[in-house]
Amino acid sequence: MAASVAAAAGSRGSVTRRLLRGAARSLSGGGGGGGGRAAAEEPEAAVVNVVFVDRAGRHVPVRGRVGDNVLHLAQRHGLELEGACEASLACSTCHVYVSAPHLDRLPAPDEREDDLLDQAPLLQENSRLGCQILLTPELEGAHFILPKVTRNFYVDGHVPKPH
Ligand code: FES
Repeated sequence: MAASVAAAAGSRGSVTRRLLRGAARSLSGGGGGGGGRAAAEEPEAAVVNVVFVDRAGRHVPVRGRVGDNVLHLAQRHGLELEGACEASLACSTCHVYVSAPHLDRLPAPDEREDDLLDQAPLLQENSRLGCQILLTPELEGAHFILPKVTRNFYVDGHVPKPH
């Protein structure tokens, strides 16, 4: 029955699919706990454990999720990663150093990121812009080290708020 229901869903519109999903839920459920089930149906992104190292050298372990933006993750955990242009690739205040084994697992920086990094103080081989890094499972255990200084050469006086 479930297979024929699913086959029927493929040939009709989204309204039919929604109705069939509701029917399948009531057939398989047995009652109670509808709200909890809805949450369970949305698979959460996998956890990616990373460590931020702040400007004082303090290690801050953080549980991120696949798809998290490193700048926003750092800000959510109170780290002083400014992100003056709010991830619009117009500053270098989200500059971080990426731990060696993980650096090679990132997509290569595009030309704009490279240009901005060239103007970042204390540039190193492992420098990247945090706002351009999205967590993937391959970044499990990565360290993102905040450089001792950053320079806000583009958005003077702007103080961004964490997202
Ligand atoms: S926040 Fe400005 S480039 Fe990343």
